[in-house]
Amino acid sequence: MTDDERFSLLVSVMGANSVLPVRDPRIPPGVGMSAGYTPGVPRLGVPALRSTDGSLGITNPGYRPTDKGATALPASIVVGASFNPVLARESGALLGREARIRGFNMVLGGGINLQRDPRNGRNFEYYSEDPLLSAVLGAEAVNGTQGEAVISTLKHYSLNCNETNRHWLDAIIDPAAHRESDLLAFQIAIERSQPGSIMTAYNKVNGEYASGNSLLLNDILKGAWGYKGWAMSDWGATVSWDFALSGLDQESGAQIDDILWKAEPFTGPLREAYANGKLPRERLSDMVRRILASSYTIGIDRWGPAPKVDMAKHNDLALEVARQGIVVLKNDGLLPLPADTNAKIAVIGGHAQEGVPTGTGSSAVVPEGGYAAVVKIGGPGPMGIGRNLFLLPTSPFAELKKLLPNARIYFDPGQSPAEAALLALRSDVVIVFGIRVEGEGFDLPDLSLPWGQDAVISAVAAANSKTIVVLETGNPVRMPWHDKVRAVVQAWYPGQAGGQAIAETLTGSLNPSGRLPLTFPAGLAQTPRPRLSGLGTPWGTPTTIRYNEGAEVGYRWFAKERAKPLYAFGHGLSYTHFVHENLAVRGGETVTATFTVTNSGAREGADVPQLYLIDAAGDKRMRLIGFDRVVLKPGESKRVTLSADPRLLARFDEKVGRWRIVAGRYRVALGMSAEDLRLHAEVALATRVFGT
Ligand code: BGC
Repeated sequence: MTDDERFSLLVSVMGANSVLPVRDPRIPPGVGMSAGYTPGVPRLGVPALRSTDGSLGITNPGYRPTDKGATALPASIVVGASFNPVLARESGALLGREARIRGFNMVLGGGINLQRDPRNGRNFEYYSEDPLLSAVLGAEAVNGTQGEAVISTLKHYSLNCNETNRHWLDAIIDPAAHRESDLLAFQIAIERSQPGSIMTAYNKVNGEYASGNSLLLNDILKGAWGYKGWAMSDWGATVSWDFALSGLDQESGAQIDDILWKAEPFTGPLREAYANGKLPRERLSDMVRRILASSYTIGIDRWGPAPKVDMAKHNDLALEVARQGIVVLKNDGLLPLPADTNAKIAVIGGHAQEGVPTGTGSSAVVPEGGYAAVVKIGGPGPMGIGRNLFLLPTSPFAELKKLLPNARIYFDPGQSPAEAALLALRSDVVIVFGIRVEGEGFDLPDLSLPWGQDAVISAVAAANSKTIVVLETGNPVRMPWHDKVRAVVQAWYPGQAGGQAIAETLTGSLNPSGRLPLTFPAGLAQTPRPRLSGLGTPWGTPTTIRYNEGAEVGYRWFAKERAKPLYAFGHGLSYTHFVHENLAVRGGETVTATFTVTNSGAREGADVPQLYLIDAAGDKRMRLIGFDRVVLKPGESKRVTLSADPRLLARFDEKVGRWRIVAGRYRVALGMSAEDLRLHAEVALATRVFGT
């Protein structure tokens, strides 16, 4: 390989879009564009890299006019709420197939940043606030995609947990706590899936840009964890050529760097550094070798015939994820609505007559047949251009009509409290929708629903005591009307089949089994940062966010503070009942727990038993150490065994760079949520120093 060929592999350029309307001449004519293009070396059979966004489906931000649309999956947070690794894997495989038929050999998926802040605009693109759950699901998504011979990323490494001024954001965290939280999620996910590439974050971590952070890239990712793939930047995150010395192997979306930092650092400046000896030859070889190693290991050079894509089957998967990820938060016996009801039902608000919302930003997917509707929203910064209320088919209103053929169902847009209340007054039951546009580039100012929807819900609940609220948001919301309504269903951004899954949940043709993958606080005052620094400052303002909660993210924080959230991590109701019994725990190298789960109710359903560490040798700290998703018929029981990853029982010792379990009694609890712990046990563990 010549040096020219080597350097050509180190940069990707992005396709034309609303920010960059002109097609980059580096992308050869006829090549379908998307997020990234890196030329191959045909002389040596090195394939070009063609990447597409694909956390929630294969995206097409206007680059491919003839593309007929892709499967718009539910948001990753819905997969998180399913607690089902099989769905994560199948979704990853779907992405791999739909990428391949478009010629893309790389999916920019695997968002596993922890949901640390309920204002983070991108939480819907991530799985959970918990490192274990995020890692297991993220790894399975990567395995699914790479099983189709398509490279997948895990992203954004690390601590891209807020969007506020993300290019100028310094995320501060205690290094050991970082290892026990966000970095542990990456570590476990990498071990389980060997992703071809790791995408770095926009933000700084403890003063150094994540993309040029030698501690994170050289010492931890490639050193301590022995990662063999390549580190690529996020789009517009390569600030300087010498990030190559800090462990970055590839500059992505180079034109964005040109806009933001007035340079494409890996094009000219990196070559100059090589010419004058500042970039060692060995390092250049290493950068290239990593890209080639992933390409050949995952097999993008050995594609056989294109995989068969059955869009109807893919729709079934989108539906199944929504079915398993919708969470019934509250139910005063009003749900499910009987299938033969002839009641007068009011459906109010949320554009429910048109479709379901989805998040905005680089993950937004145009479904087959297009959006049901697009309402322009806008906002500052480049991400403001694509900030829209995207509505995907299917319509919850239409789907309810199908499932309740005898009911008389009417729609009110919910544009004013008074008007909505008029319909509510003359109805037997009300289903009111609360929606919010969340997305990349924007943090939410608070936890409220926009556009006066809280007032509409309150007015409707005052007019009709049988009110059900369905929330379609990517984050927790405040519920000032909570005690006035009979049921609350968290439907997230449920994807193209979401309307059907919502209707099935409300009418009981499915038994809900989703569980919260993040804590719903009663208000921001309970969270680690009641005030978010930088919020509301102009785009481009240097901002520092201190993640002082360290590893005590989400439910761990609530346990430490002894605060009672609105709804706990892991919470979710079913139309049947489950009992946990006979918890037996073994010690040794780690904690292994065995217990029985029984469906004691009258219909089939799925339980998600959760095992938590609650006390580690006198140190009261809470960690999810195992979970399962168990489908049971009425009266059926199953014995379940869960073994903890020992790192979840340990502390990371920064001084020696190893994990340490201190000798003593370890208490664990099994429960229905982080708050609803029903069985306790304890076990003695010996001192153990292990891993890196
Ligand atoms: C996002 C990434 C995405 C990339 C390419 C960035 O703005 O942060 O998640 O993969 O764009 O579209």
